[in-house]
Amino acid sequence: MTKLPVLLDVDTGIDDALALMLALRSPRLDVRAITCVGGNHRVGQVVENTLKVLDVVDAPAIPVAAGMERALVERPPAPLLLHGRDGMADLGLPASPRLPVAVHAVELMRQTLSQATEPVHLIALAPLTNVAVFLRMYPALWGRIAGLTIMGGTYAAPGNTSPMAEFNIRCDPEAAAMVLESGLPIRLYPLDPFRQLRFTRPEFERFVHAPDPAARQAGRIFRFSADFFGVDHALLGDAGAVASLIDPAGATVERLPITVELAGVATRGQTVVDRRLPAQRAHPEEFWQTSLHEIDVVTAVDEARYRRLFAQAVGAPWLVV
Ligand code: BDR
Ligand code: CA
Repeated sequence: MTKLPVLLDVDTGIDDALALMLALRSPRLDVRAITCVGGNHRVGQVVENTLKVLDVVDAPAIPVAAGMERALVERPPAPLLLHGRDGMADLGLPASPRLPVAVHAVELMRQTLSQATEPVHLIALAPLTNVAVFLRMYPALWGRIAGLTIMGGTYAAPGNTSPMAEFNIRCDPEAAAMVLESGLPIRLYPLDPFRQLRFTRPEFERFVHAPDPAARQAGRIFRFSADFFGVDHALLGDAGAVASLIDPAGATVERLPITVELAGVATRGQTVVDRRLPAQRAHPEEFWQTSLHEIDVVTAVDEARYRRLFAQAVGAPWLVV
């Protein structure tokens, strides 16, 4: 099977951890590098968490680099407790013997893209600060990007961080605008499908007792999240975006214009996806155009298919039939 070369940009983060497990275990992906950015936690903690995930799946030596601590304009948010005090469900995993590389995440992006013999796919699961700085610094390397899969924003659903805005976009709206309006081939995985993919408590309790350490830690992450919210299910979150790259046939996609709201007081960081009829959009003299930048938006996913994909990747295929 041909493997897609990928670079992941993460803010690990419980669901980034699940996404990393899926990517690192997928026979379809070749993870060339992982870059970290401040978001769910401070960037130093994000690096530590990311290295621990590499240990959990017994990954080969993959370069991991620390990147931007804070957004281009705004101050960073306080670490989100929904990810645990350590940003990764307080699993109590031992510190990793691995070390991050001694270059900035943006430099690791440059090295990875310039050294690869074929274009590399970027998977961004966090505030887009690293990616935006990379795009600004190295426009000559845009052609080395096969495509971007981005977890962020909303299609028709409400936001999570604010009534209209999703966390990754709201953390750094200027960076998001630079990336989403770049004209690069982008597939956005917004909160709508993000909220679709979940495991129930009986399911993740079976993960916790699986022989594979990846399934066990994934199960403990799901349990932490369900307990935090006081519910009997937990979301796959960022892992769904990775699934949509591994198995695009499981995703329903629409090509639509997008704008990131930067000026709104209540709506700053909202992804304004133009869902009007194409016939209306075709008459800008009568119906206002908000954006000329079209991207692919994942509007829904095949739940059974992606749940199975994840269970197989973490070594618990019997869990989801
Ligand atoms: C996104 O925000 C973060 O908290 C998650 O890791 C995910 O990337 C969801 O809004
Ligand atoms: Ca994330």
